Amino acid sequence: MEIIRTVSEMKAAAAAFRAEGLSAGLVPTMGSLHEGHMSLVRKAVSENDRTVVSIFVNPIQFEAHEDFGSYPRDMAKDSELCERASVDVVFNPSAREMYPDGFHSYVDMSVLTEGLCGARRPNHFRGVCTVVSKLFNITYPRRAYFGQKDAQQLAVIKRMVLDLNMDVEVVGMPVIREADGLAMSSRNAYLNDEERADAAYICKALSEASRLFDEGERDIRRIERHIGELLSKIPSIALEYAEIVDAKTMRPPDGDHGEIICAVAARVGKTRLIDNVRLK
Ligand code: PAJ
Repeated sequence: MEIIRTVSEMKAAAAAFRAEGLSAGLVPTMGSLHEGHMSLVRKAVSENDRTVVSIFVNPIQFEAHEDFGSYPRDMAKDSELCERASVDVVFNPSAREMYPDGFHSYVDMSVLTEGLCGARRPNHFRGVCTVVSKLFNITYPRRAYFGQKDAQQLAVIKRMVLDLNMDVEVVGMPVIREADGLAMSSRNAYLNDEERADAAYICKALSEASRLFDEGERDIRRIERHIGELLSKIPSIALEYAEIVDAKTMRPPDGDHGEIICAVAARVGKTRLIDNVRLK
């Protein structure tokens, strides 16, 4: 396995794969890798001749008051996990390498980014779209792998690839959870014992939403309210939103067709967590 830190070397390695007729799979991450990330990595390894994992804590997708500075970083452990999973290249550039002086170009998206997390993190998806576009241009992947845990991000990336005619297949992968249901996240490391126990209620509330939907409830406001009531009983949890939306448009479902999800963002103590379940 090779660890590459510069854009020019990564471009050369990716061009060499192409020249040899080898397909490349890209798994973009911010590191501090867990089983959620590794499920994407394993899928990429199984479907492509070469697998590139990018590890880059992208400064421009954090709001000024957010946790960019304290975001967990562990390159030694991450490289070992990648090596063991038969990854070919870890791309781990510095912020200067990705955003040198004079960097002024951004990929922005309207509508899809206006609700849910986008409404609370106004610069977030511009940062995500910009870095993912750059990663696509640097690594030329045939396929790129994203988790359904970040449902709005997945919808946004799929839309961007379509809108900007990017030559990459976006593969969405299921949410990987801890034994008690908590969705795996690098940010779970911020939780103290009490918060960690309370955090499992987010997933429990989503299961309740799923149960109500399965029993035939179609008043989505009622289901959303029910989640709010359940979570309001947990002292360390402050709900940011609970919304039932179409997985493609991130808008309230239009009838009973398409994929419908229930998405939640909540603060557990100071830690902001997101999760969602597929209702249909
Ligand atoms: P990060 O939070 O590190 O996540 C990297 C990828 O792993 C994302 O596609 C995310 O959806 C997926 N993932 C995280 N937790 C998961 C879980 N429990 N189950 C399944 N998949 C999971 O998302 C980002 O980084 C960044 O925004 C990035 C796309 C790398 C751009 O900077």
